[in-house]
Amino acid sequence: MELRVVDHPLVAHKLTALRDERTDSPTFRHLTEELVTLLAYEATREVRVTPHTVRTPIADCVGVKLAQPRPMVVPILRAGLGMLEGMTRLIPTAEVGFVGMVRDEATLEASTYAERLPEDLSGRQCYVLDPMLATGGTLAAAVKYLVDRGADHITCICLLAAPEGIARVEGLLNDLQVPCHLVTAAVDERLNEVGYIVPGLGDAGDRLYGVV
Ligand code: URA
Repeated sequence: MELRVVDHPLVAHKLTALRDERTDSPTFRHLTEELVTLLAYEATREVRVTPHTVRTPIADCVGVKLAQPRPMVVPILRAGLGMLEGMTRLIPTAEVGFVGMVRDEATLEASTYAERLPEDLSGRQCYVLDPMLATGGTLAAAVKYLVDRGADHITCICLLAAPEGIARVEGLLNDLQVPCHLVTAAVDERLNEVGYIVPGLGDAGDRLYGVV
């Protein structure tokens, strides 16, 4: 897995505001969308395109357009949903599939509770949205799920990552036969004893949607 930490002052500025415990839920949602759009710019560096010729008012011009099949964006429910708008703003034609994963707070293991994806993802580039790469179990399980269905290029977009999570995902995915990238705004210090990223930003799902 190739790790890309996006080093940009606007990314750092928005991430700092997200971390601030005083940031309220509407502002948190808005900032998340903006930050994801910035990360998505970097994350789509390898998006497939094909040559496409248009006629300008002056002359023909050979450019490109997004290749078929369309990229697939996969937010991991619940918190990944808060990243969807920021991603589709950049690729409005992307198809969107959903994976619902829940982390058992005692074992920290992930299990799938909902899924809405095409059976066949052959030849698809997939963009997995999960704000917090903490223990890594959820993200690795989601990536395996997509690759098992035929996805041949995976890019994970996380707002924040913990070193332990990155190492675990790398370990769990080291036999993966497809290219896999991880794009994030920062790699934090560590996980605490209950699996939260330190300093992190708290529970991303709760901060986006409230405690349920
Ligand atoms: N999930 C979150 O929302 N926050 C963390 O710090 C870790 C996992």
